[in-house]
Amino acid sequence: MQTLDVIVHTISLASSTSRSYELRAADGGALPSFEAGAHIDVHLGPSLVRQYSLCNSPREKGRYLICVRRDDAGRGGSRTLHRDLTVGRRLRISPPRNHFPLVAAGHHVLVAGGIGITPVLSMAEALAARGASFVLHHYTSSAAEAPLLERLQSSALGERAVVHHSDQGDTVRAGLPAELQVPEADTAVYVCGPDGFMTHVVAEATAAGWHPGQLHTERFAPTAPPSAEAEAEAGDGDGDRDRDRDGAKAGVAAEFTVRIASTGTGYRVPADRTIAEVLTAHGVEVELSCEQGICGACLTPVLAGEPDHRDEVQTPDERAAGDRITICCSRARSPELLLGL
Ligand code: FES
Repeated sequence: MQTLDVIVHTISLASSTSRSYELRAADGGALPSFEAGAHIDVHLGPSLVRQYSLCNSPREKGRYLICVRRDDAGRGGSRTLHRDLTVGRRLRISPPRNHFPLVAAGHHVLVAGGIGITPVLSMAEALAARGASFVLHHYTSSAAEAPLLERLQSSALGERAVVHHSDQGDTVRAGLPAELQVPEADTAVYVCGPDGFMTHVVAEATAAGWHPGQLHTERFAPTAPPSAEAEAEAGDGDGDRDRDRDGAKAGVAAEFTVRIASTGTGYRVPADRTIAEVLTAHGVEVELSCEQGICGACLTPVLAGEPDHRDEVQTPDERAAGDRITICCSRARSPELLLGL
């Protein structure tokens, strides 16, 4: 797996609970370019890898900016990061990866909840730079907890960025933003935030008549079971993807076989193991990161067989094509899958 060495160049407060970390190449050179919506893996320890969206403008060549909200209820990624990352600390990261890209459209509606503003802000700045038509709505619990509020209120975005604070009674539960209440052709909608927030926005937009192909999402955690509805209000989540993986692994599982095209060898995947677990146990090298179906690092070509997709990465069209599978969580509907490994 390719990694990059970076140094924590600066750290700044992004809200009362969030910090921004500016990363620069350890050798002082350039960093790979990225597109708005991209994220990186940050290696925080031997078995602690977390994914964070890049929140700076893609036009900036020499640095990556991530913003992390401390979440004491999470599995520890944000706590470790807030505690251990100091200026000058050397880190290993992955090159940027993007499963939440801007698409061609006449108008863009960006909707972020809490720390979900991180990729969305980069997208808004990219759209503003190219003179594209867009509006951004950011839902947070309060002004004090709103990450990156200063940039959001910058002149570059102007009145196209609208902030909503639930401590002032302004929540997405009270109603979708006006731009989402009636579907518009040639408009793309992007939603990022805590799971309950996203589930609510997507469900309401779908009920309003938006086509699923117009709704683009980026999750920080696998889709939670319905009981997690209480998380719907913005401000939750820490910006990384470190929640438990029950959602990704949920569902009835059955045994099947994966066959490796390059060797012809087949391996049984029992109901309680993932494809990745089986392959790595047999010494097959695979790329893994979040192991929750939300980062896309493990997407693997499918040459034959029918995947049972359990990830949050692929679009409905990509899932229907069935030519790639996230081997960390997805399974098979057919007795066998032939993988392009
Ligand atoms: S490792 Fe992240 S989607 Fe599989």
